[in-house]
Amino acid sequence: MSESLLIDANASKEEKYKILLPQIKALVEGEEDVVANLSNITAALKEAFGYFWIGFYMVKKGELVLGPFQGPIACTRIQKGKGVCGAVWAEAKAIVVSDVEAFPGHIACSSASKSEIVVPGFKNNEVALVLDIDSDELNTFDDTDQKYLEELMKIVSEFL
Ligand code: SME
Repeated sequence: MSESLLIDANASKEEKYKILLPQIKALVEGEEDVVANLSNITAALKEAFGYFWIGFYMVKKGELVLGPFQGPIACTRIQKGKGVCGAVWAEAKAIVVSDVEAFPGHIACSSASKSEIVVPGFKNNEVALVLDIDSDELNTFDDTDQKYLEELMKIVSEFL
């Protein structure tokens, strides 16, 4: 396993995902520990994109519980249907929020967060965790992020 990422800082977002995903796949292959793999994935996304907050919430005993993340401290538990993360869990599909102020019930862990994408990960066809990425700028995320982050969550499903 390589211990550093190859990322071209000047590449487009799509190019970054294309070069990053195979490296993440290689990074988690051969390691079965879920926390270790999720931790490295958040670090890899942080290094590639520099977003304000990148982390996982895991479904545990009927709640979403904070998992490995990169960024400022965050709320630890989210109920089903609450906030963007809880809505993604309830609906079992990704949500892109271009302006968090405009999302009813958005949970503001930090006032610096302006836009957000949350993507579910599945185990046995049920949502087992969500990946939440927050940006300190409006309109950061789009279909490209959703497409590649959904691919990433398929890689995650393989080691859950
Ligand atoms: N904003 C999220 C809560 C998690 S924090 O942003 C890290 C939400 O509304 O679900």
